[in-house]
Amino acid sequence: MTTTTTEQPATPAKDGAGAEGPVFSVRGLWKVFGPRAGRIPGGEYADLPPEELRARTGCTAAVRDVSFDVRRGEVFVVMGLSGSGKSTLVRCLTRLIEPTAGVVEIDGEDVRAMDRGRLRELRRHRAAMVFQHFGLLPHRTVLDNVAYGLEIQGVGKAERRARAQEMVVKVGLAGLEQRRPTQLSGGQQQRVGLARALAVDPEVLLFDEPFSALDPLIRRDMQEEVVRLHREEGRTMIFITHDLSEALKLGDRIALMRDGAIVQLGTPEEIVAHPADDYVRDFVRDVPREQVISVRAAMRAGDCGGADHPGALAPDAIVASAIPVVMDVGGAACVVADGRCLGVVDHERLLAVVAGIDTSTPADSPSESPPAGSAQAEGKAAV
Ligand SMILES: Nc1ncnc2c1ncn2[C@@H]1O[C@H](COP(=O)(O)OP(=O)(O)OP(=O)(O)O)[C@@H](O)[C@H]1O
Ligand SMILES: [Mg+2]
Repeated sequence: MTTTTTEQPATPAKDGAGAEGPVFSVRGLWKVFGPRAGRIPGGEYADLPPEELRARTGCTAAVRDVSFDVRRGEVFVVMGLSGSGKSTLVRCLTRLIEPTAGVVEIDGEDVRAMDRGRLRELRRHRAAMVFQHFGLLPHRTVLDNVAYGLEIQGVGKAERRARAQEMVVKVGLAGLEQRRPTQLSGGQQQRVGLARALAVDPEVLLFDEPFSALDPLIRRDMQEEVVRLHREEGRTMIFITHDLSEALKLGDRIALMRDGAIVQLGTPEEIVAHPADDYVRDFVRDVPREQVISVRAAMRAGDCGGADHPGALAPDAIVASAIPVVMDVGGAACVVADGRCLGVVDHERLLAVVAGIDTSTPADSPSESPPAGSAQAEGKAAV
């Protein structure tokens, strides 16, 4: 699952409610801006590079034949440089932008077939958006801003105020309920935007670069806030960013976009350890690999041969945390799960990770050959 640009269609939920299926399921999605956009998907111009497409047709394919699932409870990050199609893609999910072609489903329901009322319901109740520019109402208090989404839903005053109050506390703004947005810092304003989105208790939260206007320290605070909220609530989140460290910090999986297409979709570890192509490799070049790659990926075949499991590292421990353990053991440390030795890591293995040498030969893998389509195929030899 390392270098796929598309995924196999998930098994559709029988009743369409899809409690176990993905939240969003996207197949062959296109958004083309320009004259007679509908002729581009699947047509003779579909595969042209962006410049040539524009020169020959006047069109821009902002989203180009994209397929993926957003799993229930995950933080799904959409990352890419400016203009790569992130905002367009996420807006197509709730039809804030109308897709040109393809399938978008939420809980198995066809979003493109929704009528106006159903769409409104989708945006108000099921998928709430947090924007970069907070979109707060300047003449209203913090509490009334947070309650705004509920007001639109027609929730009664007492109930919406109680719910808004709860959310204000949740995002750390207790005591500031009666302030107006201009009396808040940028970070506090973004918290109001977050509380407002949370107040409607949406199934999915969509974030379009919500923290890019914030200074670095406040930004880190807000990232931690999102991580905390996610841990506490397990809510599905789709998070757009062009910041790699933000993507690595927040994402369970990352879709990396370029020119409207997803060039790689995988966990942070998969993307850093096995970039799909030179573009991705370039993107992740400066990532401190030992902070992202786990000992499971770094270990080699081996068995400590006893029950005492020197070092006793969990397979998901990151390499950075394994370095002092290996130093302490003075040799190979054991990677253990359920009391069983899965493999070992030693100085050489850990150094290989830091140095960017591919070490991904799972210790218990029956074969040394990389998975089909893996970037490992043309990567450096395992140590
Ligand atoms: N309404 C529009 N009409 C024509 N082209 C558009 C329109 N909206 C977006 N585009 C083009 O589609 C491409 C993708 O834009 P999009 O806003 O999705 O990028 P992005 O990845 O969100 O960028 P950023 O990081 O700067 O927000 C760009 O080339 C952009 O110029
Ligand atoms: Mg954008």
